[in-house]
Amino acid sequence: MTAASGSARGGVEIRRLHKSFGGVRAVWDVSFTVPAGKTVGLIGPNGSGKTTLLNLLAGYYKPDAGEILYGGTDLAGLPPERIARAGVVRTWQDPRIVPDLTVAENVAIGALARGAGMPNDAARRALLAESGLTAVADTPAGSLPYGQQKLVAIARSLAASPAVLLLDEPLAGLSAFERQHVVALIQQFRTTGTVLLVDHAFGVIAQLCDHVVVLNTGTKLTEGPPGVISKDPSVIEVYFG
Ligand SMILES: Nc1ncnc2c1ncn2[C@@H]1O[C@H](COP(=O)(O)OP(=O)(O)OP(=O)(O)O)[C@@H](O)[C@H]1O
Ligand SMILES: [Mg+2]
Repeated sequence: MTAASGSARGGVEIRRLHKSFGGVRAVWDVSFTVPAGKTVGLIGPNGSGKTTLLNLLAGYYKPDAGEILYGGTDLAGLPPERIARAGVVRTWQDPRIVPDLTVAENVAIGALARGAGMPNDAARRALLAESGLTAVADTPAGSLPYGQQKLVAIARSLAASPAVLLLDEPLAGLSAFERQHVVALIQQFRTTGTVLLVDHAFGVIAQLCDHVVVLNTGTKLTEGPPGVISKDPSVIEVYFG
């Protein structure tokens, strides 16, 4: 993967990114590319820096050093709203829905956050149906079980029509049925969009991802195709072992 493919429209190139919290090197000298139109998995043990990396990409943290190149712009340190409007949208490990708004209203917020205006009714209904949320469209999102709240959050991020979707453990805490919906949503999105997927479910990472990056204690341990990563002795030692 060349630098050019990474910084093409929809691709993200991370160069020598650093972020420390006090003495903790949460992300240390990490470089990799999420090429336009590809799905890259980001895996690693608990505390290895995956969420911090997504927070840096989405503008919730300012890097201490390094660049995040996207469509010819360095996103590093830009505010989250600007990054979202540029098409880079993240989901959270916990759902972060608005509990008092209905499911349909929560999904509509995603489009507003992107500055795209309200989605039309047909588009919104289609997204709710694909997410398996039609039956609960008018239910306050806060009254749903955890797994369905996560589906709402993913539908909301898709409503923003992102170019690049950053997913932080979208499968964690979901039932097998809910997982199927999330996998189908990602599968559909990745036909046109670029994805950086953090999850501990390696089976799904292997199914969905073209390429996998492995973090360990804030640094990049290695990267490669899923079939190579799953057999790499250094990855087995720190992650699968
Ligand atoms: N806001 C913060 N303040 C202080 N330390 C932080 C902060 N955010 C993360 N860290 C530390 O940075 C390191 C990386 O944390 P991070 O949440 O990025 O890991 P992770 O790979 O997402 O882990 P998990 O798989 O458990 O979600 C950890 O040592 C964590 O304690
Ligand atoms: Mg995390």
